Amino acid sequence: MPAVVLVGAQWGDEGKGKATDLLGDQVDYVVRYQGGNNAGHTVVIGDQKYALHLLPTGVLSPEVVPVIANGVVIDPGVLLEEIEGLRARGISCERLLISASAHLIMPHHKALDKVTERYLGKAKIGTTGRGIGPAYGDKIARMGVRVQDLLDPGILRKKIEVALNEKNQVLTKVYNRRVIDPEKVLEEYLGYAERLKPYIADTSLVLSKALDQGRVVLLEGGQGNLLDIDHGTYPFVTSSSPTAGGACAGAGIPPTRLTRVIAILKAYTTRVGSGPFPTELLDERGDWLRTTGHEYGTTTGRDRRCGWFDAVIARYATRINGVTDFFLTKLDVLSGLERIPVCVAYEIDGVRHDEVPMTQTDFHHAKPIYEEFPGWQEDISEAKSFDDLPPNARAYVRTLEEMSGAPISAIGVGPGRTQTLQLRPLV
Ligand code: GDP
Ligand code: IMO
Ligand code: MG
Repeated sequence: MPAVVLVGAQWGDEGKGKATDLLGDQVDYVVRYQGGNNAGHTVVIGDQKYALHLLPTGVLSPEVVPVIANGVVIDPGVLLEEIEGLRARGISCERLLISASAHLIMPHHKALDKVTERYLGKAKIGTTGRGIGPAYGDKIARMGVRVQDLLDPGILRKKIEVALNEKNQVLTKVYNRRVIDPEKVLEEYLGYAERLKPYIADTSLVLSKALDQGRVVLLEGGQGNLLDIDHGTYPFVTSSSPTAGGACAGAGIPPTRLTRVIAILKAYTTRVGSGPFPTELLDERGDWLRTTGHEYGTTTGRDRRCGWFDAVIARYATRINGVTDFFLTKLDVLSGLERIPVCVAYEIDGVRHDEVPMTQTDFHHAKPIYEEFPGWQEDISEAKSFDDLPPNARAYVRTLEEMSGAPISAIGVGPGRTQTLQLRPLV
């Protein structure tokens, strides 16, 4: 039965939280399959605003089982704070399931994330500083600490000691940082163990049974296509695989179960942190997009870099993820422009490129080739159907659809749950 993947088509912050929330009453499970609390997914329900970092957005829908699957890296202190924060607002997290195989972010991961960025100087990635890269690094190096280790204090002690034996050398001798005391870490994590125990489960098994019973599983990606460790703008990426392919490994679901790939696509482009961004606007037009679109980071509060829509990267998202549907967000932000430029291809050293270039060197030199489309002046935030949109807004949507290579099935015209135009069913 259907497993649907929802991914970011650009550099994150496309509106994945809002899109996931919208599908809340049509799905039974919402699963985070990669990333960690580097993500910030904002959901606006009535006059309430929620910013979710580690918890799947489905936690806001009372009937949904939220799942943190094996591919996620979990900072247990942050997770418990997030659970408490929601509880204080009347949202129960009792149904939450956490994979026993997910990895834990440890204090040395956070320390190393911050200090390695500092050492990179101008070459820094601009990470969220949450320890994501070092935690995934230890996972791949086979020295990570997993959620299941919280259930075995003897193993937990050994793993913390082994990790800190090495990491303390690095922290003190390479980076001139303080030693981290393994006893203190053990005590802290044993405290988390007590509180997290009720949520720990074999989530792959749970999801497999759910699918067998005809339940609908929504896999909620963090980050986006161009932040993917393999397919993104390496090294200016995150350390996981947010793309649809990564969803299967990260959730323990076979690829043959996937029926739909929904990619969230902003009507313009933003990016947080360093790295190439061909359509970036460094002038007052970029400032206008930032203020009009409220483009400030949900997780770190940083200004998001802003630019026009880039059809080359949208096509790339279709290719890498096998997108079946696009959910176009923030169309309302573009109201009031006379003309709207769209990047249709790149010019690199005098040569036209219709696809994302093979090398990062070329991507860094890519200059956008723009086509301009007529804008609209009307406020569209109250529109209820596609036909309510002004003709130029409809034409802009149809143009993006044609260039991106998959149908646009929903359109966001505001941050609210109800500010969505649905063109065809998504589940
Ligand atoms: P995510 O990380 O992909 O979930 O996106 P973020 O939550 O970080 O950023 C998207 C922002 O845009 C949030 O503040 C949303 O409330 C807001 N948003 C989502 N869809 C729309 C839309 O269609 N119009 C407007 N104006 N805001 C939207
Ligand atoms: P959501 O899920 C936008 C960016 C960081 C940095 C790079 C690496 O809200 O879309 P990391 O801390 O992951 O090692 O940082 O990735 N980044 C995001 N940018 N949205 C996100 O998540 C992001 N998560 C990480 O800014 O450039
Ligand atoms: Mg975000």
